[in-house]
Amino acid sequence: MNEIHFLNRRSKLLDIMEEGVAIITSAPTQTRSNDTEYSYRQNSDFYYLSGFNEDNSVLVLIKTPTSSKTILFVEAHNAEHALWNGARLGIDGARERFSVDEVHDVTQYFGMIKEILREHINLYIDLYNDSARVIEAKAAAQSLHSTRGVKRHIRSIRDVTYLIHSLRLIKSPEEIETIKKAIAITAEGHHQAMEKCRAGMIEYQLQAIMNYVFLNNGAMSEAYGAIVAGGNNANTLHYVDNRDELRDGDLVLIDAACEWELYASDITRTFPINGKFSDPQREVYNAVLDVQLRVIEAIRVGVKRDWFQTYSEELLCGALIKLGVLNGELCALIEAKEHKKYAPHGIGHWMGLDVHDPCPYVDELGESLAFMAGMVMTIEPGLYFRADDESVPERYRGIGIRIEDNILVTKEGYENLSSIIAKSVEEIELMCNQL
Ligand code: GLY
Ligand code: MN
Ligand code: MN
Repeated sequence: MNEIHFLNRRSKLLDIMEEGVAIITSAPTQTRSNDTEYSYRQNSDFYYLSGFNEDNSVLVLIKTPTSSKTILFVEAHNAEHALWNGARLGIDGARERFSVDEVHDVTQYFGMIKEILREHINLYIDLYNDSARVIEAKAAAQSLHSTRGVKRHIRSIRDVTYLIHSLRLIKSPEEIETIKKAIAITAEGHHQAMEKCRAGMIEYQLQAIMNYVFLNNGAMSEAYGAIVAGGNNANTLHYVDNRDELRDGDLVLIDAACEWELYASDITRTFPINGKFSDPQREVYNAVLDVQLRVIEAIRVGVKRDWFQTYSEELLCGALIKLGVLNGELCALIEAKEHKKYAPHGIGHWMGLDVHDPCPYVDELGESLAFMAGMVMTIEPGLYFRADDESVPERYRGIGIRIEDNILVTKEGYENLSSIIAKSVEEIELMCNQL
């Protein structure tokens, strides 16, 4: 994404801030074991505003009634680091590359922040993630508070993430293109898994097929830990072991997707391991698919998120009645939350730089947000019938199905960004029997 997008985002954040100083810090590196690290993943908020992908850096936005300034603190070039880990952009490189007003060595951060805070009363930080640099900023504010002769001092510490997450809720055309790229690679991964799946394989072998597609197409990583769940394993919602054998006659649920330029995709497909749905599997599959299609059809600007959640639960409950899993009157069953046993999770979530984008679901008064053009969300209904659950008709026991797509709200209604991925029974059976 081009520098102008990051510049626009910073200026939008400055617009919605009151006078004061906002501090957004990069993610730390994370130890995996002893002296080895996980591959680095930038803090999404920091990346959203800076486009900078190095650790140990800080973005500072300053707003006065008449002006604004942006400062990026970065780690200087260091020959030792360059030898072992590769060259950093360094101070001159960052000055050249980014259109911030100033770039400084991160070692100057504490001294400079202390000077900057002398002039302000509002400090915006991530209130819920005390990074070392945020602790330093609070310490600087505290020391100024007890220093004589300081004209102004910080009187209010506010959460900067709420403001950033409100901006992140509406995706720009460039963000949507980036998400589409992630989905295109993920689509190929799901299709190859369908084509290559055979009874007797191990779940992780399907995961490996997908990861090969992701990396081979230049994606940096999975967007989240893949779920490859054969048979009854699909009824464990966050099953990530992926080490069981795939059995003839079972379904496999794959919830796996890649990240492209830090933007996620999040796709689930459930398909027969031997390439052909049995009658009970088809019945449950079509029940879930019908709910998914009807929920997606209801997406349009102005629809409230909480109505939408309720509507999806009514549809799922109706499906459970039709399948003979629940008996009784729809309203009474919903009221008693009987459907939750078989459909325990929500209908979907915002998606973007994080697979579960932390953007708000309610406004500042706690009222459910209405859909607006540019929002991107997942729609992922599921029904889960555990093998040992005697409340379920025997023919359905051990079946767990989720179908998940990524949907953009548009002025006209919606666009299913993942519609290219095989989904109907016929499309899936065709894809499973290609090779
Ligand atoms: N893959 C995580 C989710 O579907 O929310
Ligand atoms: Mn999801
Ligand atoms: Mn998912």
